[in-house]
Amino acid sequence: MAASLLITRIGELVTNAPGEAGRFAVIDDAALVIEGDRVAWTGSSARAPAADAVVDAAGRAVLPGFVDSHAHLVFAGERSAEFAARMAGQPYQAGGIRSTVAATRAATDAQLRAGLHRLAQEMLRQGTTTFECKSGYGLTVTDEERSVALAAEVTPEVTYLGAHVVPPEFDGDSARYVDLVCGPMLDACAAHSRWVDVFCERGAFGVDEARAVLTAGRARGLLPRIHAGQLEPGPGVRLAVELDAASADHCTFLTPADVDALASSATVATLLPGAEFGTRQPYPDARRLLDAGVVVALATDCNPGSSYTSSMPFCVALAVRDMRMTTGEAVWAATAGGARALRRTDVGYLVPGARADLIMLDAPSHAYLAYRPGVPLVRAVWQGGRRADLG
Ligand code: NIG
Ligand code: FE
Repeated sequence: MAASLLITRIGELVTNAPGEAGRFAVIDDAALVIEGDRVAWTGSSARAPAADAVVDAAGRAVLPGFVDSHAHLVFAGERSAEFAARMAGQPYQAGGIRSTVAATRAATDAQLRAGLHRLAQEMLRQGTTTFECKSGYGLTVTDEERSVALAAEVTPEVTYLGAHVVPPEFDGDSARYVDLVCGPMLDACAAHSRWVDVFCERGAFGVDEARAVLTAGRARGLLPRIHAGQLEPGPGVRLAVELDAASADHCTFLTPADVDALASSATVATLLPGAEFGTRQPYPDARRLLDAGVVVALATDCNPGSSYTSSMPFCVALAVRDMRMTTGEAVWAATAGGARALRRTDVGYLVPGARADLIMLDAPSHAYLAYRPGVPLVRAVWQGGRRADLG
């Protein structure tokens, strides 16, 4: 039998156990037992069973590891000048993606791999135990293929985003580029990917192009997700619902019909407040979505253009402070919500049978993630039952 570990005297254990509301849930004065890579038991500290080893949490909070369901981590170069210009009043433009595309194409595999592993380690140190990773800065068959292959080295949640923008060599001929994305590029990327994504926005891809890309991906066994409503309202959110996409991401600009469509679907609304922070846009209206019964996830959108943060705690703090989410709603969205957005049932919860992906905070409750913004509160991380080396 696998060795067991008891974590005891947990001040607040966030379980997200599906209760009546299927929402944020905690056990105070709790304990948790890990066996192998799974959670074996949760309950009150007073009733904890014996185990092979014991960790005394001394009143600290334990949460499910964060599930970051939206990140663009395979790239080279940086765009701090663009960020500085935006802070001085320039608007965000989707076209900035092209400068990262040029740098990524020019980079060696080793350079891309080093940047990717650095960001993955940065995420782990901040408590992220599951993350999604997109391609989308290569935009040639070879560069997209190496992007998804590299991403697959660090996560099973790999997303093919050949339809990020139309690259310069296809200027004025997006139809021909979409053919490439749906044809030879998809052929090269499908085996390394679980998801297919498209940036459905003015300046990127229109709704018919987006439908073509997601449908072609689905025909190859990939599951659809979408970037929609980042810069203005558009048809992308309804397309997501039409195609039963796991998630519609950004959702910053939504029509009432979009909210209704999301509320009556299995499509999660993934909000990316780091992008609003980094582009000085208004934050998405999380309250409107939650009050309508939409399932909401929070993710970083970590990328060198709009949102160069890898920190889920930062996103939780923004969601609480500026999007009127309660601390519990924000933590649920950053854990169980992310799991829903990735159609995962093994992570995002701390209940018997769940994967033992958990974090211990240097704080007594989850609220400290927003109450003490910018403070590195993640003290320890267990991933698949093993204590992670946080470097
Ligand atoms: O999610 N919206 C499209 N993609 C990224 C931006 C990427 C970039 O600016 O490089 C996003 O915000
Ligand atoms: Fe994105």
